[in-house]
Amino acid sequence: MRRRGGIVAGYLAPHPPHLVYAENPPQNEPRSTGGWEVLRWGYEELRRRLAVHKPDVLVVHAPHWITMVGHHVNCVPNPRGISVEPIFPHLFRYHYDFATDVDLAEAIVAEAADAGLVASAMRDPGVRVDYATIGALHLANPAWDIPVVSLSANNNPYFYSDAALDEMETLGAATARAIERTGRRAVLLASNSLSHLHWDREPDLPEDMGVERPFDHHQYAGDMELLQVVREGPTERLRAAIPKHIAATQAETKAGSLTWLLAAMGWPAIAGDVLAYGTVIATGNAVVEWVP
Ligand SMILES: [Fe+2]
Repeated sequence: MRRRGGIVAGYLAPHPPHLVYAENPPQNEPRSTGGWEVLRWGYEELRRRLAVHKPDVLVVHAPHWITMVGHHVNCVPNPRGISVEPIFPHLFRYHYDFATDVDLAEAIVAEAADAGLVASAMRDPGVRVDYATIGALHLANPAWDIPVVSLSANNNPYFYSDAALDEMETLGAATARAIERTGRRAVLLASNSLSHLHWDREPDLPEDMGVERPFDHHQYAGDMELLQVVREGPTERLRAAIPKHIAATQAETKAGSLTWLLAAMGWPAIAGDVLAYGTVIATGNAVVEWVP
């Protein structure tokens, strides 16, 4: 039986470095005693489902490869290096070595440019891959045995201005056309946390779950309101719910990864499946699956 191409699933796949640290993979230098188990069990379920989808490629949009001019796509065939989380270098120093689906990466650049976006193929093997890209990819597929396409964020999630998500609609549609044109069977990963206020002090043991909790009730309630819409569906309702959630909780979805993912899937008339929710240094994080 010939397998169907196109986008077969999309995941909200947040990247707190703490989750990778807690897993103790051989690629990460620091060692932990665990922590944040419920979120990591959600990722274990994501991996089981990903294995069933059997994608040709994982396409990831991440908020910490910030490109101030245009949308960049990593076209380096075999990115290799060490990814370091600048605020938590004691938790995340990750040795990566993976394969890029260069044909699809170049097709996304072309489709984005055709759609009127400023788009650029990044071909410098010396550019260090950011921890949000590596974190989501590791947590979704720690075996790294599926080729990758990595997209930059043409904004800064820490700007105070309102989110400008319109371009993510265009980039999502361009991504979908490129996947269609190349005949790939693709899974999309949106590497975003939800509510994004966090502590400025760390316990002596970073994975001390005795102090892990939501930043406050307002942030938690904002995340639950969004996840209620996710769980009820259809995704069309999220067009209004995402900006409202960003305004209420400083959500990292301001970087546009979630809007890109849903736009690429054509805002399907389905509900999302929340596999886990938990806080990491007080930020809200959900692992969610949409199967169009
Ligand atoms: Fe982040």
